[in-house]
Amino acid sequence: MYQDIQEIMFSEQQLAEKAAEIGAKISRDYAGKNPLLVGILKGSCMFFADMVRKIDIPCTIDFMAVSSYGKGAVSSGEVVILKDLSYPVTDRHVILVEDILDSGRTLSNLMRLLSARDAASVEICTLLDKPSGRKVEVEAKYSGFTVPDAFLVGYGLDYAENYRNLPYIGVLKPEIYQK
Ligand code: IMP
Ligand code: MG
Repeated sequence: MYQDIQEIMFSEQQLAEKAAEIGAKISRDYAGKNPLLVGILKGSCMFFADMVRKIDIPCTIDFMAVSSYGKGAVSSGEVVILKDLSYPVTDRHVILVEDILDSGRTLSNLMRLLSARDAASVEICTLLDKPSGRKVEVEAKYSGFTVPDAFLVGYGLDYAENYRNLPYIGVLKPEIYQK
């Protein structure tokens, strides 16, 4: 195991199974609706790629990049749009795909923004949910795993831009971010 990782929380296989399960659910729920899946960069990239490949109905994909954390491990509460969508969302059924729902600020801001752009609907799909971090109420229609109050990395999740490439999700040793 990588030296900075305290323990593995979700294995490659568990992550693959969850992505498939959620992709199948979305296929059932959105049949005939041609949903627009919006990956929130960069954290959701691995989950997004695995999950959308398990969707077997017509759909389109797009990406947004937002920043709320900077380099630290604690949210600043501000959400800055670094990259916006390529096309309008007017009358589209939008599903925002995130790596982790923590304070809820990122997703509540994005939900408000896209609803104001006259999307037909906006829902949230998050791989991980960390309820202990919540500062703003947000409802995720699809949520993969509920996680405890630990700093997680891997499978897209980063600490100061590192560890995204790990194929599993692990708990980062506290001494790494308490330095
Ligand atoms: P929120 O606005 O606080 O809900 O922020 C969610 C974002 O914070 C996610 O997209 C992640 O980038 C980041 N984040 C929250 N918790 C963790 C964690 O445990 N590891 C890595 N990134 C995290
Ligand atoms: Mg991040």
